[in-house]
Amino acid sequence: MRVLALETTCDETSVCLLDGDRVLSNVVLSQIPLHRKYSGVVPELASRAHLENIPAVLSAALTRAGYRRPFFRSGRPAGPKIDAVVFSRGPGLPGALLVSRVAAETAARLLGTRLIGVNHLEGHFLACELSGGGAAAPIRFPCIGLIVSGGHTELWKAGGYGRYEVLGRTRDDAAGEAFDKVAKLLGLGYPGGPAVEKAASRAEAAGDAARAFPRPYMDDTWDFSFSGLKTAVAYRLRDLLGAGFYEERLRLPAREAGSVCLAFEEAVADTLVRKTVRACAAFGVHRVIVGGGVAANLRLRKKFSEAFRGLPGGGAVRFAERRYCTDNAAMIALCGARRLARGAYGGPLDIAPDLSAASWPRVRA
Ligand code: KG4
Ligand code: ZN
Repeated sequence: MRVLALETTCDETSVCLLDGDRVLSNVVLSQIPLHRKYSGVVPELASRAHLENIPAVLSAALTRAGYRRPFFRSGRPAGPKIDAVVFSRGPGLPGALLVSRVAAETAARLLGTRLIGVNHLEGHFLACELSGGGAAAPIRFPCIGLIVSGGHTELWKAGGYGRYEVLGRTRDDAAGEAFDKVAKLLGLGYPGGPAVEKAASRAEAAGDAARAFPRPYMDDTWDFSFSGLKTAVAYRLRDLLGAGFYEERLRLPAREAGSVCLAFEEAVADTLVRKTVRACAAFGVHRVIVGGGVAANLRLRKKFSEAFRGLPGGGAVRFAERRYCTDNAAMIALCGARRLARGAYGGPLDIAPDLSAASWPRVRA
């Protein structure tokens, strides 16, 4: 089975060719330089850039996978048959989603093959199966899934491929969004996650520690909330720099900013670990999968590994490889391939910017 996948939900334009378990190509073009000066993704700019870039990214992915121009000849690709064209229906930015939707349908019609629309968050979950140039061992079910990205923080109970129940999700900021906003407050640039991680690890190496931030555990629900933590960082900066610090562009010296980042990272990681450990105990499940951009964070990975090493029941935690944590089309291709393998070809093909809310059944705490 060979699938062509397109991903344009947010600020990465990506195309992948997956053949069975082998990633033949996975081209990712990031728009970070375009959005950097705004310290966040500007939706209209993102859609336009996807539109401009998708032809080149598509042709680079096909070329790397061994296809030669002209790629589509009399309804057939100039190379091995493609069994499906896959795209992310959502969640994502509406204008951005439309780009891969239209490009994917065009490719599917030219190739005379089927079109499959998948859930971007399922892509982040399945990304843990990607390793090096291919798909590694399949996920063992049942398991608890934690998806931590820029737009979403969701805790799932997964009974099999496509069989997910949402235990909890963020009530306000996603974990990645909190990283981005804290980086903005500290003047560390965009995207915030990697910048905060770098500053925190420097502080740790120097032995610097800031006063701990409160943990938003919310033990009576499976939901998350990270906006209070972001506000706690803002209050700390106000106390240190004065009320008008942000407007006056006052920023902490690098060393102090680093120790704030370290304390913030610790609070986010502890919160995510605690809720996941509790979900495992509550549902008697001892396998965990962590995906999404924030899963690239090394402190988070370390804390999860430590927490699950000591758990009874032989608990095991599995992460997506770091390069497959952030948005990429390989994880979307894998969603399509798993759907093909179980004969689930159908399903809606409309774009769905709020797909997460409507996707899987919700379990009440
Ligand atoms: O999954 P993703 O690429 O896009 C969405 O679907 O949202 O996640 C992007 C998010 C951003 O908020 C970014 O700051 C965060 O993931 N991120 C990180 C790290 N790398 C990316 N957060 C913490 N540590 C990192 N190393
Ligand atoms: Zn994503």
